Amino acid sequence: MGEASRKVLVVGSGIAGLSAAICAAERGLHVVLVSPYASERAQSVMAAGGINAALDTMGENDSIALHVRETLAGGCFLENPATIEAFCSEAPDIVRWLESIGVVFSRRSDGEIAQRDFGGQSKRRTAYAGASTGKQIVTALVQKCRELEIAGTVERRLGLTFHSALIEDGVCYGAVFADVADNGIASIEADATVFAVGGMSGLFRKATGSRLCDGYAAGQLLGQGVEMRNLEFIQFHPTAIETPYKHMLMTEAARGEGGRLYYLSEGRRVYFMEDLYGERGNLMPRNVVAKCIATCPSQVYLDISFLGAELIHERLQEVYDLCLDYLKLDVTEESIPVGPTVHFFMGGIRVDDDHRTNVENLYAIGECASKYHGANRLGGNSLLAAVYSGRVAARAISEAAPSVASGRRPSFDAQISQARVELATLEPGSLLAMSEVLQPLSRILHDSVGILRDREHLEQGMEALGGLDGAAAALPGANEPWCGDYRAPSLLLIARAILLSALHREESRGAHQRVDFPETNEALRLCSVARCENGSITVSYVDEAGSAERPSAMGGELR
Ligand code: FUM
Repeated sequence: MGEASRKVLVVGSGIAGLSAAICAAERGLHVVLVSPYASERAQSVMAAGGINAALDTMGENDSIALHVRETLAGGCFLENPATIEAFCSEAPDIVRWLESIGVVFSRRSDGEIAQRDFGGQSKRRTAYAGASTGKQIVTALVQKCRELEIAGTVERRLGLTFHSALIEDGVCYGAVFADVADNGIASIEADATVFAVGGMSGLFRKATGSRLCDGYAAGQLLGQGVEMRNLEFIQFHPTAIETPYKHMLMTEAARGEGGRLYYLSEGRRVYFMEDLYGERGNLMPRNVVAKCIATCPSQVYLDISFLGAELIHERLQEVYDLCLDYLKLDVTEESIPVGPTVHFFMGGIRVDDDHRTNVENLYAIGECASKYHGANRLGGNSLLAAVYSGRVAARAISEAAPSVASGRRPSFDAQISQARVELATLEPGSLLAMSEVLQPLSRILHDSVGILRDREHLEQGMEALGGLDGAAAALPGANEPWCGDYRAPSLLLIARAILLSALHREESRGAHQRVDFPETNEALRLCSVARCENGSITVSYVDEAGSAERPSAMGGELR
């Protein structure tokens, strides 16, 4: 089959999806880019702080080697050094490319890109666009993508929400979507299908991320035989504020610019991070700061007022606006009450160095893929991973020999009819009833896979999830051949896989802190892999550096 006729389906149009679409189209592939909403509503626009690259514009002798070392150390050495080296080596080119397509990075007085301090890094390595780097990058990528749409190499389809992948005998042929346009379904076949569906914040309801990224896609793919990796590693961002519907991020850049964390004891400020870790204490890796805050005796505050109004308006305007809007608090005068909240999933779909999954012709990129961040991600590395992984997958697809399976298209008529029935019978009432599953589900996750975990709470969580199977079965229409709200089983499946992965890992490492296993166990310097067969989940471990699979420390099959 000629290169020009090969079709790539990209599911999700945030930074990762757009990057993959652009790179694939520029390599002569025909791209269908699908999402429920416009890119401007993707979770990527919420990324505030910046993107890492060892550009060394601040003249501090930064280097790619140091970026590699700090990424590996921040992730507690779970990742493959060669993979991380390739990741960090491309970062300077990525930032320069983003600049060339219109990202307005903040500047030093000499006109060079400015870089700021971020957690877990010893050099100013994070390039930024005020406090809205994600928005700026999305805007530039959308613009670039439109040029390719006009050229006819990218076809944009909005209003499509992922339902299921078209998989048979370990090969993916495309995906099925709910289509808001005609209240029906759209089935799209492709030579390669790339998932760029973001993380799973919506499972936890209140988090910094979007509720639209609810883990359904991961659960559905897990149920369809796609392997998941390191699901137990969930990043809690140390500094968020409470609002009625969400937790709003107070960017790490606030501490990068000098902001200080404290709590009050008998009217005196205790700068606990500095007391514990010295001058750079406020910029320890997120898992360390979040754990310290979680064990503080009283409310923690973030003080940036002493930085002065000019610096705050120039570099941290979003922090100023959010606090004024939601807390009626002027950060140039007062400290901000902050707390840790779910922010990022280091775990997700297991991929190889080309972002291929274990299912042929199925790829995953961006936050939904697990590849670069080990047990704890460094701030600024997620925007980098989004662009980088999109490029890597697009290159791999364009260079791959046509798959043996691509000449053969099995019939998916039964799956498509089933999807049609499920979607046609969705009623507003069933969405309401879904909250009877989702609310307790998020409570269970908060109680069992929070910052501090133990066997007792994880087992209680597993049991409570079992109870929710009953609630899901009682959803309207659930006794029909279809399920009242078809999404519930996949959400419960991915939640169960997260809990099982956390239960299996009997050590503390990065974002996975077990109070019953407080030490790091070097024998477990391995990545967990969760698989689902006939509804049963198993968890095992792989050494990503050596790729030798070992049986789980606990052994056996858990469900
Ligand atoms: O705090 C922040 O600005 C978050 C950045 C990131 O997660 O990369």
